[in-house]
Amino acid sequence: MNNKHILLGISGGIAAYKSCELVRLLKKQGHNVTVAMSRSAAEFVAPLTFQALSGNPVLTDTHHNESGGNGMAHINLTREADIFLIAPATANTIAKTANGIADNLLTNLAVARKCPMAVAPAMNVEMWHNPANQRNIKQLISDGITVFQPASGEQACGETGVGRMLEAAELADLLPDLWTEKRLQNKKILITAGATFEAIDPVRGITNISSGQMGMALARACRAAGAEVTLIYGQLQTALPAALYHAEQAISADTMYQAVHKHIGGQDAFISVAAVADYKVKNSSSQKLKKDGSGTPPVIELAENPDILASVAALPNPPFCVGFAAESENVLEYARAKRLRKNIPMLVANQVSQTMGKATNQITLIDDAQETSFPESSKQQAAEEIVKRLAELL
Ligand code: CTP
Repeated sequence: MNNKHILLGISGGIAAYKSCELVRLLKKQGHNVTVAMSRSAAEFVAPLTFQALSGNPVLTDTHHNESGGNGMAHINLTREADIFLIAPATANTIAKTANGIADNLLTNLAVARKCPMAVAPAMNVEMWHNPANQRNIKQLISDGITVFQPASGEQACGETGVGRMLEAAELADLLPDLWTEKRLQNKKILITAGATFEAIDPVRGITNISSGQMGMALARACRAAGAEVTLIYGQLQTALPAALYHAEQAISADTMYQAVHKHIGGQDAFISVAAVADYKVKNSSSQKLKKDGSGTPPVIELAENPDILASVAALPNPPFCVGFAAESENVLEYARAKRLRKNIPMLVANQVSQTMGKATNQITLIDDAQETSFPESSKQQAAEEIVKRLAELL
């Protein structure tokens, strides 16, 4: 998934500064990035910046041949690339692309393209809503070009509204969806993720070291595979994926239980990644606990939390349930027993020290038919393996 050649076109808007970070993130994902800039883009950020970040020569002119080939960069580049993304795409570049006008390097590339194309618009709110621009955006979509819809917020011009280019992290998150096989098309998937937090008093509580990275990777992998993803999350030490169907925070096991049961109807699968506390504080205090000077610590009484996964698996018509087992010893033995005890068709087994709080994981998938261990990989790659098996079983 991660060795794509991305041709990044940059047109002349202030959001070009975000594209510096985008190049860095795409490189970090393992892609080769070639940057092509319009002349006005080069007024905002120097081509040398993109050359240094991408490690490749930057092209700025239709017929200027920087790499010593046949002078046909405006044709050749999209033959070599897997995807052509223009980010930022100004109203002007969008209008020209929608109408097949080829009067600079970027628009020539667009007209001559052979690879799939996407644009990340960036413009003033009035320009965005302008009927001509909206007509052009519709035209791009009907021509098969992916449009990363801009966000709303404060704009460089001082106005507020829709037209802000998506952040670099959001674009880097969404771009791989364009080449991911749609194994989960039309599937609805509910995922829990992160650590729950059980309050002792208004400032203290019981939680665990789950970072939420595995759950976020799965949400991203399911979305990329075409699923409609609902995410219920506790405490996270990582960013939420972009463009989920629904995301809602539920901090304690009880609130997570309620949120899951509110959204479970009509789901095709439930992936229970959250590290849910087994116990809550029975005598939690609505006021901050004070030291009383006696030297005797307060007694914290615990009560058992509901088992969310087992409760979903026990529904009359349960969705396909995937559980996780993070064990510190006897991983496979405990995981097999957990799968049977919770009555779930698929379980992901992993070793606590190899996964919790880390960006990598080593997983074993256990289901009725087989048990498959995968080598240590990034959590994103592990999530893709889970999605592949889930799609087969669904
Ligand atoms: N789980 C859940 N609700 C709980 C506890 C766990 O939904 N109250 C889910 C987790 O999301 C995970 C699976 O059950 O998918 C296993 O969680 P884990 O904490 O490993 O197992 P427990 O059932 O808590 O058993 P133990 O603590 O004895 O290992």
